[in-house]
Amino acid sequence: MTDLASRAALDLSLTPEQELVQRTARSFATDELLPKAAEIDRDARFPADAVQKLGALGFMGMLVPSEYGGAGLDAISYAIAIEEISRADASVGVIMSVQNSLVCGALVTEGDEEQKRRFLPRLASGALLGCFALSEPQAGSDASNLKCAAVRQGDHWIVNGTKNFITTGAHAGVVLLFAQTDPAARHHGITCLLVDTKQPGVIVAKQEHKLGIRGSDTTQLVFQDARVADADRLGAVGSGFKVAMKTLDSGRIGIAAQAVGIARACLEDAAAYAKQREAFGKPIAEFQAIQWKIADMSTQVDAARLLTWRAAALKDAHEPYTAEASMAKLFASDVAVRAARECVQVFGGYGYVQDFPAERHYRDAKITEIYEGTSEIQRIVIAEDTLQE
Ligand code: CAA
Repeated sequence: MTDLASRAALDLSLTPEQELVQRTARSFATDELLPKAAEIDRDARFPADAVQKLGALGFMGMLVPSEYGGAGLDAISYAIAIEEISRADASVGVIMSVQNSLVCGALVTEGDEEQKRRFLPRLASGALLGCFALSEPQAGSDASNLKCAAVRQGDHWIVNGTKNFITTGAHAGVVLLFAQTDPAARHHGITCLLVDTKQPGVIVAKQEHKLGIRGSDTTQLVFQDARVADADRLGAVGSGFKVAMKTLDSGRIGIAAQAVGIARACLEDAAAYAKQREAFGKPIAEFQAIQWKIADMSTQVDAARLLTWRAAALKDAHEPYTAEASMAKLFASDVAVRAARECVQVFGGYGYVQDFPAERHYRDAKITEIYEGTSEIQRIVIAEDTLQE
């Protein structure tokens, strides 16, 4: 763990490039995403237009080096952009997060030159979407307990099994599939394969109907004798679990930023409503009961953002950040859920109906405590890191 006190200075100012990312993301989110967020949620419609526009803005491959068609930005810029996008529409936020941190991220760190040239430019432009297939019906938190199997046949692998809760699974052209290639070796027997979804044997079996983030598809993928060339293996045979864990470290920064964005939406929407809604002859913002809620939300949003940016800064500095990413996600997701509850409360009865955004924030916030590692798993990661010191 990094002792912040040991650092000479804590510079929280943004670079001109990071400010530009913030302005660009904020105006895109306000102009393009916010007006459609309620409708996308109601219809559970995948926001394909928005995703294409995000690709054109460079937001689908933010951390991908420019030589592979990406924006070549840092992790702080990435956290800033995800926050802005999620403030408007948390569904778009998770689609963007999975594409950037889990799919592009794993390819940047683990891919060979040919794989990077083949996949990254299309992923970064949004022409190709990817998904990250780790979870299975019996393997969520216990992520190494995989049954999906890949058996070697000459220069190919034959894959059979089921993957659950796959974000963007129905729209992805490529799957980062974590499969068991040596069951006796448990987590040392897991291998990551890049699977083309258009080939026979890759089946979109079920699309989930969800409480929140309804614009993002969450899919069960079934693999039935799917053939994958060994050239499409990402990393060494047996290295898949570590690839997944390292990739999720970075993914947790994205989800923390998404949670900050949702919490900020709650704060801003609650504050705006409190200033115009009157009770007992004056705006409810003039009552201390409401002011305290706003004060708590405001403080918590800032604290969550600072933890998120600290994890991102450590990533940018190539320092270890596993525990810091878990702290950011643990704290920010809790803040999002609390802010959403208070936002509904400030709106009162109007918080409970679909004419106002509060109930959508309430439903969207909850998933941040579950995916990319539950809050309980984040505590395991943080405790292990803290106790080993
Ligand atoms: N970086 C690199 N290596 C790591 C690591 C990390 N962050 N964490 C663990 N490892 C390595 C360990 O060093 C160890 O290696 P060796 O055996 O070679 O020494 C190996 O992985 C196994 O470690 P553990 O014994 O700690 O593993 P475990 O089985 O106890 O599991 C866990 C640890 C933290 C609980 C892990 O299973 C976990 O993170 N579970 C949650 C899974 C998760 O986040 N799923 C999200 C699904 S994807 C998703 O949600 C995306 C989406 O759609 C939005």
